[in-house]
Amino acid sequence: MIVCLCKGISDRRLREEARRGHRTVAQVRRSCGACTGCGACVRQVAEILRGAGPAVAARSDGGGGPAAG
Ligand code: FES
Repeated sequence: MIVCLCKGISDRRLREEARRGHRTVAQVRRSCGACTGCGACVRQVAEILRGAGPAVAARSDGGGGPAAG
């Protein structure tokens, strides 16, 4: 479903942006241009970002394999 009509940004794209760590409207504005037109989508974009679940961060556990030692 297209959320930002001005820029043609879908909810799927917004969730993808959120997974990449773009968790605020300001961040997705910069990353994909959502909310940079009329601004009517800002509230819905913010809701999608809030509900997107945890971001995929760089793994800090060495890749998930069994611990050495
Ligand atoms: S619908 Fe997103 S800026 Fe207009």
